[in-house]
Amino acid sequence: MESALIFRNGTVVNANGSLHADLLVVGEKIARIGAGIEAPGALELDCAGRYLLPGGVDPHTHFDLPMFGTVSSDDHYTGHKAAAYGGTTTVMDFIPQEVDDLEACIEAWRKKGDKSAIDYGFHMNITSFSGRVGRQIPALRKMGITTLKVFMAYNGRLRLDDASIFQVMRIAEDNDMLVMLHAENGDVIDVLVTEALNQGKKAPIWHARTRPAWGAVDAVLRGCALAAQAGARLYIVHMNAGGEVDMLSYARERGVRVMGETCPQYLQFTDDVFNRPDAAKWVCSPPVRGEADRHRLWKGLEERTIQVLGTDHCPFFYNGKVPIEYEGQEVAIPGKELGVDDFTRIPNGLPVVGDRLPVFWTYAVHSGRFSKEDFVALTSTNAAKIFGLYPQKGALLEGSDADILVWDPEKVIRYGVSVARHRTDYNLFEGIELSGFPEQVYLRGRCLVDAGEWKGTRGYGRFLHRTAGEWI
Ligand code: URP
Ligand code: ZN
Ligand code: ZN
Repeated sequence: MESALIFRNGTVVNANGSLHADLLVVGEKIARIGAGIEAPGALELDCAGRYLLPGGVDPHTHFDLPMFGTVSSDDHYTGHKAAAYGGTTTVMDFIPQEVDDLEACIEAWRKKGDKSAIDYGFHMNITSFSGRVGRQIPALRKMGITTLKVFMAYNGRLRLDDASIFQVMRIAEDNDMLVMLHAENGDVIDVLVTEALNQGKKAPIWHARTRPAWGAVDAVLRGCALAAQAGARLYIVHMNAGGEVDMLSYARERGVRVMGETCPQYLQFTDDVFNRPDAAKWVCSPPVRGEADRHRLWKGLEERTIQVLGTDHCPFFYNGKVPIEYEGQEVAIPGKELGVDDFTRIPNGLPVVGDRLPVFWTYAVHSGRFSKEDFVALTSTNAAKIFGLYPQKGALLEGSDADILVWDPEKVIRYGVSVARHRTDYNLFEGIELSGFPEQVYLRGRCLVDAGEWKGTRGYGRFLHRTAGEWI
């Protein structure tokens, strides 16, 4: 017989409204939501004073990613565990296109996914385009991969030219798939980086100074224009500059089916961080920008120009020469120290996957700026809809997966590396006070985190075969 659990007396929060109710889980699914639910033999959890939120959906992670002469320090188990601690129960990771055989790339990433602790999907990077690659794209849909990432930067490595991006968009549209765009101007970056290095400007701040916001703005407009001409949907990842929001808004107002994602690092920090002695901790691409950009991003979320809060989680150690203890073992992975003398060698990326929900709750909901329903939309529902998982994920509805956060809106926590569970030696939000935290985290009816105790396991996470998704 399937196990049954009643979440008694909580407030069930969905993107379109909330109600005070009981919620019955049978097996892996939500069976009923309503008042006074009785189910003989069911276990009960008292949720008075708690919000029941759908598990977070983060569509942008990089686990176990070889990059910059090292590898991102969370793998598909440790990163999933960190995500779960922060209330995220579904992640989507990017498969690098190492060879022209896309199926072989996917197979390799599927093997890495075997250790997953939460549910997961994949996006396919298209970083080398040809007729042969194009002909393989339609087959990805049958494998449950309905999204393709393309890059306008990282010349000579990941970047596609506009003609190739345009062709990828047309193939995607013909096959009801979605293109995701890394929007920066790779040509300008290369000129500025060469100049900076020639002038001996090698400190971390030059990472940001050689990747100007105008390049990102130009790239978003170009991406939107290409999408309009291809008649395709487009999703801009890791939006960071105010002008990008303006460009996205311009295109959306004209009916172009474009959407956007930003991340906590761009909402919380400005380029002031590059004046700190530990500036390398914040080095990611695109970089964090100025105060006006930060404000425009918040407004972009408010006015629904940006639909998703992701993370672009891609952690590295700050000092990979000094081990940390992780699950009773010493671990040290080369990290940001690789670029101590040269910003171009600093691995690009940040640890964020576990921080996303509690940090956003504090600054968005606890601050009174957003409703709890908006919070659910931005951290869970919208991503589930855009990436073809709704209503299995992203909602607390009868028939949905029982991915449930028992959220304590009053819990106050002094946050930092000792609370977050990323496998790295630092946290961007060190020392801040958070208000609101998940008390219990359930994935498909099973408790993964209970009052700070890890109850998850390697291999419990399931690959999600995604459908086409929608434009919202
Ligand atoms: O610095 C970053 N963001 N690293 C991850 C790769 C990417 O472009 O998303
Ligand atoms: Zn990117
Ligand atoms: Zn990324």
